[in-house]
Amino acid sequence: MPTCLICNNNYAPFISFGTMPIANNFLRPDQLDEEYFFELQVGICLNCYMVQLVNQPSREMMFHEDYAYYSSTSVRQVIHFKNFAESVIKDYCKSNNPFVVELGSNDGIMLQNFANAGIRHLGIEPSKNVAQVAIKKGINTICDFFDEKLAMEIIKDNGMADIIQAANVLCHIPYIHSVIEGIKTLLKPDGFFIFEDPYMVDILEKTSYDQIYDEHVFYFSISSVKFLFEQHNMELVDIKPLKVHGGSMRYFIAHKCKKSVSSRVKEQSDKESGMGLHSQTIYNNFKQNVEKSKSDLIQLLKYVHLEQGKRIVGYGATSKSTTITNYCGINTSLVEFICDTTPSKQGKFNPGTHIPVKPYHEFSDNYPDYALLFAWNHAEEIMAKEGKFHESGGKWITYVPKVQVLE
Ligand code: SAH
Ligand code: TYD
Repeated sequence: MPTCLICNNNYAPFISFGTMPIANNFLRPDQLDEEYFFELQVGICLNCYMVQLVNQPSREMMFHEDYAYYSSTSVRQVIHFKNFAESVIKDYCKSNNPFVVELGSNDGIMLQNFANAGIRHLGIEPSKNVAQVAIKKGINTICDFFDEKLAMEIIKDNGMADIIQAANVLCHIPYIHSVIEGIKTLLKPDGFFIFEDPYMVDILEKTSYDQIYDEHVFYFSISSVKFLFEQHNMELVDIKPLKVHGGSMRYFIAHKCKKSVSSRVKEQSDKESGMGLHSQTIYNNFKQNVEKSKSDLIQLLKYVHLEQGKRIVGYGATSKSTTITNYCGINTSLVEFICDTTPSKQGKFNPGTHIPVKPYHEFSDNYPDYALLFAWNHAEEIMAKEGKFHESGGKWITYVPKVQVLE
């Protein structure tokens, strides 16, 4: 039985997706024969309620000098982080010469707002290519993995932080205890650690199983986050549900007994308990929903392409789509190519099922009959700009919250 990364309890996996490649490892033609695969399984520890990956590839295999995810490819995400940064500046940057640190700062999507406002800031970003983009924008960045040791070095050079932020990062880190000890050391006594990640309740409710891949080690809920930070004498003091990434939660953490705790924390925690998040059944049901979603999707794609002879193109070479294509066995016999706006993904092949990734114009120059919406979490942004595809008679296929053709 695997051992919980949070509390060392033993737990049993509730779902297995078989072997999977590294989700963001888009391949050059000469790399197609040398892929790494691992067993993708998830379990819930019923002692601390943390839902987690059973096996994790090494961090260096995922985060390196050729990391495929550039945060700023989504205009809505740029706006999301701008709005957030403005609220942080207004509410929390009141001390004389405040210092803001961000973990997983990527291409500077968030910190550029602090840099532009002349606020002292530092990004920690181990993936060199995206860190370089931020550095070129004038954002102070250390290219390394954050942990307890690095926190000490940051303090030595900069002093303690008023605010530490992390978006879609904490859930990526299996050595999370070292990261939280680092945060605890680096954060001023009255500071806040504010982080956001995809929320377990949304994943369960939407059967968005494509959130499950190598980088996402943890699937947080209020209960598991509370347990985790209490182990480090820190406290969850407030929460804010977010629409981004298909449903996320923002968590506000403070040193123990330093801030009042919002009633929202207990309300949401009670809601989770009422939904059955603390017992096995809901996860077993999720497994059944995932299996149904898989068979519905394969059936639809086969009907549309093999029986009706229609062209299907994937929209957005997301890391999430690696789970979908590999688990459902979707390859070029069903999907012609995947279009994506990220230059470094173009001309490559998607991990595992080797569907070519092509520039966006290949989609718009010759619209397919159906677009399989792999970037469903950006649906609003995409629908707003794809009127012409719709006018050309094109239809969208989605699988979240259920498999359907959007009319
Ligand atoms: N915050 C951005 C990027 C999220 S992707 C956004 O929300 O869009 C996750 C990022 O975390 C990657 O850029 C990865 O390189 C970085 N990362 C992974 N492990 C890390 C660690 N230990 N410390 C800091 N960043 C880390
Ligand atoms: P996203 O869903 O944010 O991430 P993940 O990799 O975490 O699953 O990925 C967005 C991807 O979709 C990225 O490769 C860029 C691409 N994309 C487009 O091609 N066009 C668009 O309009 C948008 C919003 C994204």
